Amino acid sequence: MIPIIKPWLGEAEADAAAAAVRSGWVAQGPRVAAFEAQFCAQTGAAHAIAVSSCTTALHLALIGAGVRAGDAVIVPSLSFIATTNAVAYVGAAPVFADVDPGAPNVTVRTLEAALTPACTAVIIAHQVGMPAELAAIAAWCADHNLTLIEDAACAIGSTLDGRLIGAHSPFVAFSFHPRKVLTTGEGGMLTVRDPVVADRLRKLRQHAMSVSAVARHEATGVVLPTFQEVGYNYRMTDIQAAIGLVQLGKLDAIIARRRALAASYQAALADLAKAGALLLPVDPPWGRSNYQTFVIRLESGGQSRRDAVLAALIDDGIGAGPGIMAAHMQPAWSALARGPLPQTERWAVSSIALPLYHTMTQQDQADVITALRAALVATP
Ligand SMILES: Cc1ncc(COP(=O)(O)O)c(C=O)c1O
Repeated sequence: MIPIIKPWLGEAEADAAAAAVRSGWVAQGPRVAAFEAQFCAQTGAAHAIAVSSCTTALHLALIGAGVRAGDAVIVPSLSFIATTNAVAYVGAAPVFADVDPGAPNVTVRTLEAALTPACTAVIIAHQVGMPAELAAIAAWCADHNLTLIEDAACAIGSTLDGRLIGAHSPFVAFSFHPRKVLTTGEGGMLTVRDPVVADRLRKLRQHAMSVSAVARHEATGVVLPTFQEVGYNYRMTDIQAAIGLVQLGKLDAIIARRRALAASYQAALADLAKAGALLLPVDPPWGRSNYQTFVIRLESGGQSRRDAVLAALIDDGIGAGPGIMAAHMQPAWSALARGPLPQTERWAVSSIALPLYHTMTQQDQADVITALRAALVATP
């Protein structure tokens, strides 16, 4: 089976994790602090808070943005369901925005259509690593007094206006799940612009405790922590951070390889795109994708054809998967009042994620392309 993704982990990650274990410090400690510092150095973010997942990073971002019960938050339905679920964690209501016909991201036009008087914040996703039109969206959010949160779960290593995603907005949330391009097993990072907000969220990550574990460890006398508000345990471990530090050092190589593999797919499938049979992912004018997932869209046949093509690929040993889900099409969120989301539904039922991983060979890619072409011919 050619897998959809295979994390690029090696001896350096194994050694780093073992060193953390041997040090005896396995929970959040000096390696987490070093990982956060390195993340800031590479992305240009002012503050970085390592957490247990992107989902918990989004929860903290919403708290930091001051979103509360009774508020509404615009989100793309076309995203992994965590983007929508996080809004419920603060008691607010998600409002679904549609996406662009040509790219799986919200735009100013689709956000405008979703806006209600209760909206206080917007979560946009750089879906499958493809950068959204952030500058225009940020200007629109400023005009409407809405806090902008970037769900960059898939977008470590993608760029906007020549800079890595991570420092463009007040809050940017990342995932390090193994399905992403940089992994710590489980894990996430929240970058924050405001120092006071960052300090509060850093405390909320560990039960809103007034002193960190490192400070307690280094203290020579009795330390009595205080707890000013209700916090959470959203910590990352030092074992994870040790792996993350090695992975950050490999980020440029990871992205270069993914972009080269994406370019091969684009060249090999260009005739089908030109004929209008497929929509292929391409960089927008304002940024570069990390191609976290290479998602194609079948331009005819709807869900039954997509599912048949997927089944044929899997039968052929190709670990392809459905492209991008839509939260409003799942039972958990189907009852929520919403406007029409035609482009979201089109993407959700017609997209396919093709295998793309660092150690993928030319032969692997040729096998995927041959199987895809055969499946498309067999399923007209
Ligand atoms: C767009 C998006 N947001 C959030 C998440 C959740 O990330 P995590 O599993 O790290 O909580 C994912 C994971 O797939 C995602 O794709």
